[in-house]
Amino acid sequence: MADTGRFTAASALAAGAIPNLRISGRDTIKVALVGCGGRGTGAAVNALSVPDKDIQLVAVADVFEGKPARTATDLGRRFGDKVDVPAERQFVGFDGYRKAMDCLRPGDVIILATPPAFRWVHYTYAIEKGLNVFMEKPVTIDGPTCKKMLSLNEKAKAKNLKVGVGLMSRHNVGMQELKRRIDDGEIGDITFMRGYRMHGPAAFFRSVQKPDGISDLMYQIQRFHSFLWASGGNFSDFNIHIIDHLCWMKGKYPVMAMGNGGRHYREGNEGRYIDQNFDSYSVEYTFDDGTKLFFDGRCMTGADEQYQSFAHGTKGMAIVSKQGDCGLPSGTFSSHNVGKENLIWRSDVPRELVNPYQNEWNVLIDRIVNDVPHNEVESGVNTSLVTSMGRMSAHTGQPVTYEQILNGDHEFAPGVDGMTYDSPAPLQVDETGYYPVPMPGQKQMREY
Ligand SMILES: NC(=O)c1ccc[n+]([C@@H]2O[C@H](COP(=O)([O-])OP(=O)(O)OC[C@H]3O[C@@H](n4cnc5c(N)ncnc54)[C@H](O)[C@@H]3O)[C@@H](O)[C@H]2O)c1
Repeated sequence: MADTGRFTAASALAAGAIPNLRISGRDTIKVALVGCGGRGTGAAVNALSVPDKDIQLVAVADVFEGKPARTATDLGRRFGDKVDVPAERQFVGFDGYRKAMDCLRPGDVIILATPPAFRWVHYTYAIEKGLNVFMEKPVTIDGPTCKKMLSLNEKAKAKNLKVGVGLMSRHNVGMQELKRRIDDGEIGDITFMRGYRMHGPAAFFRSVQKPDGISDLMYQIQRFHSFLWASGGNFSDFNIHIIDHLCWMKGKYPVMAMGNGGRHYREGNEGRYIDQNFDSYSVEYTFDDGTKLFFDGRCMTGADEQYQSFAHGTKGMAIVSKQGDCGLPSGTFSSHNVGKENLIWRSDVPRELVNPYQNEWNVLIDRIVNDVPHNEVESGVNTSLVTSMGRMSAHTGQPVTYEQILNGDHEFAPGVDGMTYDSPAPLQVDETGYYPVPMPGQKQMREY
């Protein structure tokens, strides 16, 4: 593959000048992947599918043996010589991210798609290496890490790095048009919004006791949705998209959350569930102008399923996500009743733009190639923070403000940067022999 005349500022970099990591349109952009799971592989597919660009996957890393090789083989079958990941560039281990990034040149792109506990660690090294970044959501799961990410991000901006965050609603073209219409007053001033993610148990929402043959640490990493330190639990992992796009529609972030929640079922056919998740959450978010965002989340078999979002204004309402995290079509209505007779507008997105996961990559690569500023970390951190604010309120049984969670001192996984296979798991069983779980009202200052 052609790889000529790469970076316009290579000599300036070598001379220690302010780096300008501009890539000319003719160059191969190399990509590496950290976290060879479902989404990481999906993001690599999107990277390699950016139209009319010479993009090559050159390295992959994971903490589980076998995963890097599987991803390299699967992607190689699909993309041919756009995938150049021989065995010596398939890395296994907690330091694999460094080795994968060491295969890249400044200005190339690293995909960070592990559970979010590791995001700041991997972002730190990416910035050090001068890499452009695509990182998955959530980007943080607690207050102290939000501050750490924001401070790190200043370094990324100073280095002119382009950083995309996988909150793909913002690249949903139908929602972008809806946002313009809401800002233009089509449904009046927003007074309240509603979001629902209620379905059966999904992903690693629940876990039984660890089987033999795997350490506690690796069990918790593997089933990260079950453990708060690794992911913020199902609340953060599942609900962040709807909370994100409703805040985007409103144009601000809430200042307070009041949440409720509980776990109805801790026993099942598989045994006793030892994870830290609630199966029902209900959060009322308040904005500084007093308007509300009501969010309901549930993982329960047999209960009614609803997975969509709405915004209500003084002149009508909008379907924001028709189905799922950001499903088309969006629409506006002249009433608070959804019905054809009240329809003002329904999104109609050209086929080549319907996939927001692809759109976010097309934009990222375009901004890299044309050296246009692009950094989604601040909104990613804010969305991650207010998602955690709702979760913390439900878990503690207390109202939680934006300032409280941002300035909180509970860092869920301190020392994650030095983690090895021999490290103790950040979550240890308590005196009952089980992992600590949230106890609203009884544990008021901490989630567990
Ligand atoms: N934007 C979206 O719609 C979307 C969809 C799914 C997942 N995600 C996000 O993507 C991330 C990954 O989710 P997933 O569904 O792909 O999970 P997954 O379990 O399929 O993949 C995660 C991979 O990361 C690996 N890993 C864990 N710790 C690591 C470390 N320290 N270094 C290297 N590799 C490590 C795991 O072994 C696993 O292979 C999560 O943050 C999740 O919230 C986003």
